[in-house]
Amino acid sequence: MKKINFNQLFLNSISQSKRNNSYRYLKKLNKLDNKIKYKNKLLLNFSSNDYLGLSQNKIIKNETIKIINKYGIGSGSSRLVSGNYDFHEETESFLAKKKKSESCLIFSTGYLANYSILSTIFNSKIFKRKPFVFSDKLNHQCIYEGCKNKNINFIRFKHNDLNNLEYLLKKNNLKNNPKFILSESVFSMDGDFADIEGLVFLKKKYNTFLFLDEAHATGIYGDNGFGLSLKFSKDIDCVTGTFSKAFGCFGAYVICSKILKSYLINNCSSFIYSTSMPFSLLASIYSSIKLMPKLKNERKKLIKNSYLLREILKKEGFNIGTSQSNIIPVIIGNTKKTILMSKELQKKGFYVVPIRPPSVPPNTSRLRISITSNHNEKDIKKLFYSLKLLKRI
Ligand SMILES: Cc1ncc(COP(=O)(O)O)c(C=O)c1O
Repeated sequence: MKKINFNQLFLNSISQSKRNNSYRYLKKLNKLDNKIKYKNKLLLNFSSNDYLGLSQNKIIKNETIKIINKYGIGSGSSRLVSGNYDFHEETESFLAKKKKSESCLIFSTGYLANYSILSTIFNSKIFKRKPFVFSDKLNHQCIYEGCKNKNINFIRFKHNDLNNLEYLLKKNNLKNNPKFILSESVFSMDGDFADIEGLVFLKKKYNTFLFLDEAHATGIYGDNGFGLSLKFSKDIDCVTGTFSKAFGCFGAYVICSKILKSYLINNCSSFIYSTSMPFSLLASIYSSIKLMPKLKNERKKLIKNSYLLREILKKEGFNIGTSQSNIIPVIIGNTKKTILMSKELQKKGFYVVPIRPPSVPPNTSRLRISITSNHNEKDIKKLFYSLKLLKRI
């Protein structure tokens, strides 16, 4: 029998990605407040999702240390065995209240939450007929992974195009087949907002389940930063979000009815068979939820600076797509050129990573700029002038 050289096969795949400029590697960075050190150079970070700088917040750090000293590090078990402590329950009910919803369930990461919740809901045993799942074309990979399921009819609608969604809903309006609409509220790579009111309207008209990922909205948008879904909390069946971005921590949540929470506790294998969140993280999360309403000035500054950068980039003729938020893609198209621009920005003191296919659609490679409350007007203008100089690279 011929011996298989596994490493050679992996290497073939790596070589292929090098040839088409999609090779990924880990960069060794050092963190220094809102700057990072890379290859001995201090860089201003425009690629961070720590939108409010809370990963460095002193109050959160101190409260976390206090809890570690009191309870220790790990929880020691899954929630259903001996790892469900009062702190888990308190954090969940605190967030559910802030999100004006019935209940909340914490997950280890946003990726895992979306992937495993959707896989658990699309269960052929509970639906007599095959569900139709309508997903925005630009939804995050973890939503897409949750839909890789032979028990559903998976249909992607044009990004943020509710006419297209309604056309597809009408076309597939088979009697008694359950229907689901899946969207993000702020899109991760394009920085535009979903029309949540329109999604709710279609949800009601076509009697569908509505799932919304608030990963990039939570902390920044909506009342006190508790997300764009807040205004529609009675009408959205399932809202997910992460604590890893504006909350500056790690972990994720789902906001839903008490019944759906109970269904997930009973059926979601990533919840059932995985150790519960450690006390240290719960402490950071609880503290950052508590802090959120007090960060109005930080949010205002971030929104004002994002507006400024979007406007000057547009005026200069850069393609920033449909961005409306603090996520501002400078769409270059050509991957090689995007990588080169990112490297040149590094030389000028900015860390802006290139985002390439398959993370974004073909021919839309981009520099994904994210504005945080740590940036000031001077930083924004400096970045803009450097980009301007690189325009004709
Ligand atoms: C829209 C969206 N959902 C979910 C996630 C995953 O969240 P986490 O980093 O907590 O796994 C991300 C992360 O980039 C995201 O952009």
